[in-house]
Amino acid sequence: MKELRKKILYPREVIDQRVKELADAISHDLEGKEVVLIGVLKGAFIFLADLARHLKISHSVDFTRLASYGSGLVSSGNITVTKDIETDIEGKEVIIVEDIIDTGITMAFLRERLEKRRPASIRICTLIDKKHRREIAIDADYVGFAVDEGFIVGYGLDFDEKFRCLPDIYVIEE
Ligand code: IMP
Ligand code: MG
Repeated sequence: MKELRKKILYPREVIDQRVKELADAISHDLEGKEVVLIGVLKGAFIFLADLARHLKISHSVDFTRLASYGSGLVSSGNITVTKDIETDIEGKEVIIVEDIIDTGITMAFLRERLEKRRPASIRICTLIDKKHRREIAIDADYVGFAVDEGFIVGYGLDFDEKFRCLPDIYVIEE
């Protein structure tokens, strides 16, 4: 198979610094509250692990997994839940931790689904925000990096299950 060319967008030191800043902002905003981090599998597992370890407030962690049928690279809008959270989030402050928001379809679906369980609040924390690609209006409360274009891999993000565990963030070159 042809080797895909990719170039570094954010090296690990830059990511680490930014994740610390996000954790500080979240710690400041939600001090003294009952906080649940909900990671969206699989892409967010590395980001969530680092974010959680930088938080200065107590919190619990849970995961959900969503599947979107289609090409696999973009959301088709046809989303199903393949793994639900196991935490009762009623009355709690929820932070959805996502790897990347692209069209916004996945995040809008998840937020609406979790809202029905009557949490005190839902915030969205995404490592990467491709804001200009939105098809549904949805904003993240905490954004690691805003990216304009390109397919991003590394630090949890994959291309067909490849590159997920690279410590740096890359963009695939055409
Ligand atoms: P959305 O529903 O279009 O916002 O898509 C979000 C999901 O698509 C993400 O959680 C990723 O799994 C995937 N995705 C979108 N863009 C990228 C990318 O550049 N790299 C890796 N995965 C991506
Ligand atoms: Mg994802």
